[in-house]
Amino acid sequence: MFSPESFVSETVKKIKNDVTGRAVIAVSGGIDSTVAAKIASDALGSEVLAIYVDTGLMRLGEEKDVREILARLGINYRISQEESLFLERLKGKTDPESKRKIIGKTFIDVFEREATEFGASYLVQGTIAPDWIESGGGLRDTIKSHHNVGGLPEKVNLKIVEPLRDLYKDEVREIAEHYGIPKMRQPFPGPGLAVRIIGDVTKEKVDLLKRATSILESEISELKEVPWQYFVVLLGDRSTGVHGDRRVYGSTVAIRCVNSTDGMTANFTPIPLETLGKISRDITNGIPEISRVVYDVTDKPPATIEWE
Ligand code: XMP
Repeated sequence: MFSPESFVSETVKKIKNDVTGRAVIAVSGGIDSTVAAKIASDALGSEVLAIYVDTGLMRLGEEKDVREILARLGINYRISQEESLFLERLKGKTDPESKRKIIGKTFIDVFEREATEFGASYLVQGTIAPDWIESGGGLRDTIKSHHNVGGLPEKVNLKIVEPLRDLYKDEVREIAEHYGIPKMRQPFPGPGLAVRIIGDVTKEKVDLLKRATSILESEISELKEVPWQYFVVLLGDRSTGVHGDRRVYGSTVAIRCVNSTDGMTANFTPIPLETLGKISRDITNGIPEISRVVYDVTDKPPATIEWE
């Protein structure tokens, strides 16, 4: 049986022994990178720096949550605020794959700069077994280029340390529990809200989507059964609405809720109509720029979970 206590103490010993210089780790707020950062921190103390690149494309309050948890765990961390750099580089870009690549490249640029500044010679990663075990020909990657912190080693000239390499998700969850790390939020794509804005990304659109997402999240949290993933997509087309006695051409958003186990296939979640109506009213009342809300009833396949 897997014992988080002995795994942690053995791994801490091993890292202390193997790592002879400073180390950095990119944290995303997800469970794997948080657990890896905590183990590395137990082994190396202030010689490891956890770096959170704030792209400005995350959800409302996300940066604050990450900051709180890293501080509570006693991890040496830095939050790198780079919203304007990301928005600048994304300006006018509409192709989903180009958007992903720009975000991936910018992330690496920022991370490399921070790692150099810290004088790191090691890179700790939260890679777990399913990240590197070949999965039926890598269907996922041929459909969308997935930017996540796992993409770093090819580009960064640092020695790699992967404390969770042989573990599966349930074991990582057990370690998280051992450390008192709170249950993590739903899966969230590395490129963040940029792939939930159809077409070009602007600060106004990101702000709109952040507000709509937060309304959806608070409604969904009231449900007895919370879907595996749930989010809002800001569509590129305008649609006609009425405000008082005026015609307006507002934005349309789509709500996407899916159930899945690993994201490879998924079913749309049959959210009660009453809840959907409430979500629609809350969004259009709270955000006057949005005049229409639609619900996505497509499984994966044929659709992917994200719209871009
Ligand atoms: P798709 O849209 O490919 O999504 O059906 C499957 C799962 O992967 C997440 N996703 C991403 N995660 N970088 C990530 O780290 C990405 O570029 C990316 N695109 C999709 C998606 O949220 C879902 O959980």
